[in-house]
Amino acid sequence: MPAKSLEQVVNLCKTRGFVFPGSAAYGGVASFWDYGPLGVEMLNHVKRIWWQESVYARDDMEGLDAAILMSRKVWQHSGHEATFTDPLVDNRETKRRYRLDHLLKRQSAEVLEAICDILKPAPTFTAPSRQATISPDPEALASALIYHYREVQTHFSASTDQMKSENAAILMDVFGLTEDEVRRASADSPVPRADSKMFEPEQRDPLTAAAVLDPADGKPGKWTAPRQFNLMFVTHVGPVEAAPNTPEEIAARAYLRPETAQGIFLNFKNVQRSMARKVPFGIAQMGKAFRNEITPGNFIFRTREFEQMEIEFFIKPPQFTGEGEKTDEQWHEEWIDQRYRWWLRYATPPTAGNVEMEEIEERFRKRAQAADELAHYAKATTDIEYKFPGSLSWGEIEGVANRTDFDLTAHSGDVPEEDLKRLKLEPNKDSNQTFDYFDPDAKQRYVPWVIEPSAGVTRAMLTFLCEAYDEEVVKEPTKQEIDQIKSDAAMIKNNAEKKIKAAEKDAAAGKETKHDPVQVRAFLDQLEDVVNRLPESLDEVLLTLDHPGAENLEPVKKFRVPTEKFMEEVSRTVLRLHPALAPIKLAVFPLKKNKPEIVEMAKGIKRMFQKHFRTVYDDSAGIGRLYRRQDEIGTPYCITVDFESLEDRTVTVRERDTMEQERVAIDDLKDYLFTRLDI
Ligand code: GAP
Repeated sequence: MPAKSLEQVVNLCKTRGFVFPGSAAYGGVASFWDYGPLGVEMLNHVKRIWWQESVYARDDMEGLDAAILMSRKVWQHSGHEATFTDPLVDNRETKRRYRLDHLLKRQSAEVLEAICDILKPAPTFTAPSRQATISPDPEALASALIYHYREVQTHFSASTDQMKSENAAILMDVFGLTEDEVRRASADSPVPRADSKMFEPEQRDPLTAAAVLDPADGKPGKWTAPRQFNLMFVTHVGPVEAAPNTPEEIAARAYLRPETAQGIFLNFKNVQRSMARKVPFGIAQMGKAFRNEITPGNFIFRTREFEQMEIEFFIKPPQFTGEGEKTDEQWHEEWIDQRYRWWLRYATPPTAGNVEMEEIEERFRKRAQAADELAHYAKATTDIEYKFPGSLSWGEIEGVANRTDFDLTAHSGDVPEEDLKRLKLEPNKDSNQTFDYFDPDAKQRYVPWVIEPSAGVTRAMLTFLCEAYDEEVVKEPTKQEIDQIKSDAAMIKNNAEKKIKAAEKDAAAGKETKHDPVQVRAFLDQLEDVVNRLPESLDEVLLTLDHPGAENLEPVKKFRVPTEKFMEEVSRTVLRLHPALAPIKLAVFPLKKNKPEIVEMAKGIKRMFQKHFRTVYDDSAGIGRLYRRQDEIGTPYCITVDFESLEDRTVTVRERDTMEQERVAIDDLKDYLFTRLDI
């Protein structure tokens, strides 16, 4: 435990009906996924356990389901239209596109230092107030670069009279402006400002000058300036025939919500009044959210359509908090802790011992965001992160933010000047409501502050799948069997060495090669490492055969089928999901499918449970294979009906993690399973 690579989980999800690529018949659409029979069960379970804990188990929560499409004004006043953007850069050579901060995270310390060295003496940063913002930390450096490029562009585009060909070329080359745009930029800037000479040549384009590498080919790129790209999907309400950017088209625009939160803010008063709630109380909502992510990927980790589970918890503002009442910071801490414990609870199967529990805890952490990472509305945010397998590594699974009174104030029509100033908000002339609250106990009117725990449903599913995935050896292989693997590996090595030599020769002669020598060499290195660590590395053998360098090697093809068969005998894949998350809770098998009494009894047991939870009946293989199939999808219990069952009405119940089997009377099954499944 857990998965060693994301590919293991991706393969399982695709082959066993958790997740399928969207629109596959038409070649697929990047980053849209369909959730299959097991996937939809699991998503529903994630939402159910979250709702149970967030709404039912508390005295201070209500639920809500607001519309996905809201007035465009919501997103103007929430700040999303202006600031919900990601900085995008393109490599003009490879045509690859990256989010600037993600690109910087993949650079060496030397490259990051080189960028800092270029930026520090630039006129943009010589003012003492800006100096502090240049650091090799990728997030901070991304902000500094965005600011810097914007300044450079201003100086270029504003130098109307001096719009010499050199300036125009840089505007087109670095900033990606068309000739037309360059002409317009000069026409729009009648006042000449400092000319391009105020920046040294390397300061005009620091990313290219510092030799920032393109992760796709490992070579220095020729980078465009970062462009801010709004992540909201635009749609239109009603039939619109107007051309883009005309007043009629703009008036009909709406956005697919990028977070469910705003629907809660707009319903704060509706819920508070209709349910006679007193602050502190919270509203929970689950639902779809959409973001036109620049770099979606890592399977369902970052997608353009996903589901969120969000709570907006309304509390007293700090200036009204009395003796003995929790401050906003204490509420924030409490929610971080509560949510962190929820993640741990459901990542841990009941069969885990102390050592496993400690190991699981090491893969979840709380990380407070640095000041320059904070969203425009947040006073503080702590991310709960999970250590995903492979290069994805630590990734945010939930953010717990202190959103202050920003949102309720932003949507209010009548706000004192000092609050607008404090929150850096413009007066809202569109709203006909003020989202304040009269506190009957304190006899005070105020705009509540908000603590927001916000988690992704689909990301939660990926987290729990990665954590639950395990491949374990169930039967010790003999020395002879291990030796067989070693000798097969030696045969593969021999063949691969020859292919490498042939490919190198072909490449030198300018001919096309069937094998990529670098990839084949990487495969051989991995194979050697796995073989040297046998038998402990047994579960890595099949994974190694999936290496791209192993493609088209004949002995690998020959070796695969018997290896798969052997692996099925000595090992099993098991999803050690918490029972509450398991898509199927119970599978029932007849020992003999041609014995009608056994089949009838097994089907009767299935009928007994299927109205309570997902239960399946299966007689399509031998019992051993049927157990393996259910282990692989995380079914916590299997029941086998045999000849003895016909005599004494007892059945064999097998537990997934320990593989222990027990005889249980059919009449006791409900109690037995309901207790263990916590139903
Ligand atoms: N209302 C606050 C908010 O939306 P966020 O950190 O942007 O905050 C909250 O998103 C959670 O939503 C994340 O922790 C993650 O679990 C999930 N999430 C965000 N973007 C996602 C994406 N593109 N794909 C899948 N899940 C995403």
